[in-house]
Amino acid sequence: MEYYAIKGGRRLTGEVRVHGAKNSVLPILAACVCCKGVCEIRNCPRIADVDTAAAILERLGCRVSRQDDILTVDAAGLNGCALPPELSAAMRSSILFLGALLTRCGEASLAPPGGCALGARPIDLHLYAAGRLGGNWEQRDQCIRCRWERPCGAEIRLRCPSVGATENALLCAVGAPGETVIWNAAREPEIADLVGFLRAMGAEIKGEGSGELHVCGGRPLHGAVYTVMPDRMEAASYLCAAAGCGGDLFLKGAERRTLDEVVELLARCGCQISEERGGLRLQAPERLRAAGRVATAPYPGFPTDAQAPAMAALLRAAGTTAFTENVFENRLRHADQFRRLGAKIDVDGSCAEVHGVPTLHGAALEATDLRCGAALTAAALQAEGESRLYGVSHIRRGYEDFEGSLRNVGAEIELRSAT
Ligand code: EPZ
Repeated sequence: MEYYAIKGGRRLTGEVRVHGAKNSVLPILAACVCCKGVCEIRNCPRIADVDTAAAILERLGCRVSRQDDILTVDAAGLNGCALPPELSAAMRSSILFLGALLTRCGEASLAPPGGCALGARPIDLHLYAAGRLGGNWEQRDQCIRCRWERPCGAEIRLRCPSVGATENALLCAVGAPGETVIWNAAREPEIADLVGFLRAMGAEIKGEGSGELHVCGGRPLHGAVYTVMPDRMEAASYLCAAAGCGGDLFLKGAERRTLDEVVELLARCGCQISEERGGLRLQAPERLRAAGRVATAPYPGFPTDAQAPAMAALLRAAGTTAFTENVFENRLRHADQFRRLGAKIDVDGSCAEVHGVPTLHGAALEATDLRCGAALTAAALQAEGESRLYGVSHIRRGYEDFEGSLRNVGAEIELRSAT
């Protein structure tokens, strides 16, 4: 079993490169099957979830090849519309093949998706969207089958602005002739990235960045060349890690416009953050001030994916910070792990009060999901002595060369194998 051996107490100084966004590239890779052409996806990160998406594409009959950070998908040879159950279960984004396969072949069959354990993660809105556009679906024996009899554009009203359901609705809507309007759509920048890619394939879509998307479906789609946006959550993770240990970090490729809430929080705590040519610089004081209240919300609110990394940054801050998790029902599991390092945190339902302590100490830790893993690493980097972090596979799902990037900026972190 692999683990990180982390010795805390060093400042992070230097430059980290931000890679392509995981939560953009996964819907974009699913979208590749919408056409019979060749798609060239640039700035594609080397992460385990991309490997899973590539494996799904290959099992469906597509040809996938990589050169440096360009992934090429040739979907001409698609010869199936059923995902292998073990690959469906390997990540949440497998559900996006539902919409993409309906558009391409008029049917899809897949097992319920996996992904980070953050509490119940239903797919009712995904199925509702497919159903509104003419899909008949049934779920039996851990298999969801959906078939399009007469696809046709329609109004889709989402109960909440789900990121994945908005993406699936878009993927279906480009294939359903006529006009579709998606109300209460998610406004995350990754939605705009997917729209950008679908547009490059020939789709007609308006309204990205707002809660109302208009799609003129049924247009012929073709292959495209597209560059994935930088990963704002990878950037947020490094910003928080540097903030927690008094660092001075330049994040090459990070975009300020997608990081407003995180930047404002860290500035409130005493960090200086400036836009410099080609990226963002953060300079942190030796000890942060507590942040008052932090409540997660759909974009443009404070991102749920940055909640654990931000909490890690504030474990040693002067004063108390109150976090409220409003997006997922069980996304405070890292609090127990932080306590192992000596952090003082009171959890009550979806709220966690962090009372800053002057020092943390090394401990054995277990990552329970992707962002939890990044946050625990950031916390261990502040702790005196050595920590062991298990569950590294969670981190690999979404961060390219995480330990290498941190080592380059001064962290003492090593990947080891337990016998
Ligand atoms: C996406 O997950 C991201 N994943 C998550 O990133 C991110 O935390 C989340 O959006 C919120 O920003 C990818 O893009 C691959 P949702 P998704 O549908 O699409 C409820 C990370 O660490 N809901 O917006 O699954 C749901 O239970 C991760 O990179 C329904 O009720 O999130 C949740 O409470 C993890 N029914 C809320 O909506 C549905 O059919 C938001 O979920 C779908 C969702």
